[in-house]
Amino acid sequence: MTEHDFIPKPYTIAKQTGKVSWESPSNIALVKYWGKKKDQIPENPSISFTLNNCKTITTLSYSPKENVADFSFEVYLDGIKKDDFKPKIQTFFERVEDYLPFLRQFHFKIETQNTFPHSSGIASSASGMSALALCLMSIEKSIQPQMTVEFFNQKASFLARLGSGSACRSIEGDLIVWGKTDSIQGSNDLFGVKYPYAVHENFKNYQDTILLVDKGEKQVSSTVGHNLMHDHPFAKNRFQQAHTNLESLKSILKSGDLDSFIELIESEALTLHAMMMTSMPYFILMKPNTLEIINKIWKFRKATGLHIGFTLDAGANVHVLYPKKESEKILEFIQNELVAYCKNEEYICDEIGFGAEKIND
Ligand code: PMV
Repeated sequence: MTEHDFIPKPYTIAKQTGKVSWESPSNIALVKYWGKKKDQIPENPSISFTLNNCKTITTLSYSPKENVADFSFEVYLDGIKKDDFKPKIQTFFERVEDYLPFLRQFHFKIETQNTFPHSSGIASSASGMSALALCLMSIEKSIQPQMTVEFFNQKASFLARLGSGSACRSIEGDLIVWGKTDSIQGSNDLFGVKYPYAVHENFKNYQDTILLVDKGEKQVSSTVGHNLMHDHPFAKNRFQQAHTNLESLKSILKSGDLDSFIELIESEALTLHAMMMTSMPYFILMKPNTLEIINKIWKFRKATGLHIGFTLDAGANVHVLYPKKESEKILEFIQNELVAYCKNEEYICDEIGFGAEKIND
C-alpha cells in the first residue's frame, strides 16, 4: 500500500451536523521508535503492548460551514477550553487534509478527557491523536458506509501516525508492529499492524505498573529527540539493532522465554536513553529515582527469581512489566519498596489491552 490508497475517490458530503465519540488507549513500546524521516516515517521498526486503562476519550461534534478558506475547530480538555492545544491540531489537519477532503467543510468541537492525570508525565499524544483520528474516520465511514473494518483501522492508524508517530500503534491490540522489517510479514512504515505470529500464554494479560517518578513537562520533546538521530554517531547501528531485536523477539514471544524477554526490553529502554545521552546536544531524561527503581528491580529479581522487568519511554517514569501469574508478590514489592520513589507516591496499574472502542450515545 502507498499513501495514495488513503486518498478517497471524490464523494458527496451531506451538510449535516453530527457527533461521534471514541476511547483510545496509550501504548508502551518494547522495541522503541526513536528517529524519524519526514511525516513520521520511522527510521526503524517498533513493537508495543497496547495498554488498557490509560486512555483518552474524545467526542467530536461537527457542523457544516460555508467558508472553506480555513479549518475551524475548538478544543476542550475536561470541559475547559484549551487554545494552547490548537497549533498541534492545526498541523495535524494540514497533514491529513488530502486524505480527509471534508475537513474544511465543517466546524469541529473536540472535547477530550484522559483517564490518567494530564500532569502525570504520561504522554497523551498516542491516545489523544488516535482517538481524534478514529472520530474523523467515523465521519468518513458515514460518507462511505461500504468501507471495511480492515481499511478503517489501517487508515485510522495512518492518520494517527501523522499526528504523533507512536499513536499509530494505539488503534488495535494487543501487540502492534509499526515500521517495515523483513522478519514480520505485513509490517510497513505507514501504519501499525497486529503482530501476526504465535504468542505464548506467558505474555497474555501482561501487567504494566507505571511509576510516576517525575510529573513535570518534558525538558526535551520527542520531536526534538527524534531529529537528533539525524546526525547521531550511533544511528546506523541503532536502527539495525531494532530490526535484529524484533527478529529475536519473535522467537521469545513464541517460546514464552521470560528471561530473554526481560533482557531484550531492558536493553531497548537503556539504549533509547543512551541515544539521548550521546546525541549532540546531549540530554538526560532519567532522574535519580529512575535509577533507584531500576537497581531495586534488579536486586529483587536476583533475590526472588521472579520475572519483573522494566521499560522506559521518553521520560523519567518507569513502566514495570511482569506476567499476571506473578503479580501478587511483585505488586507487594512495588507497593513496599518502589512507590516511595514516585512523586507523591503515585502510580498507575495497567495491563495489556485490545485497542480503541467506539462509544455509542
Ligand atoms: O510518538 P512520539 O513522537 O511521541 O515518539 C515516541 C517515542 C518513544 O515513546 C520514546 C518510543 C516509542 O516507540 O513509543
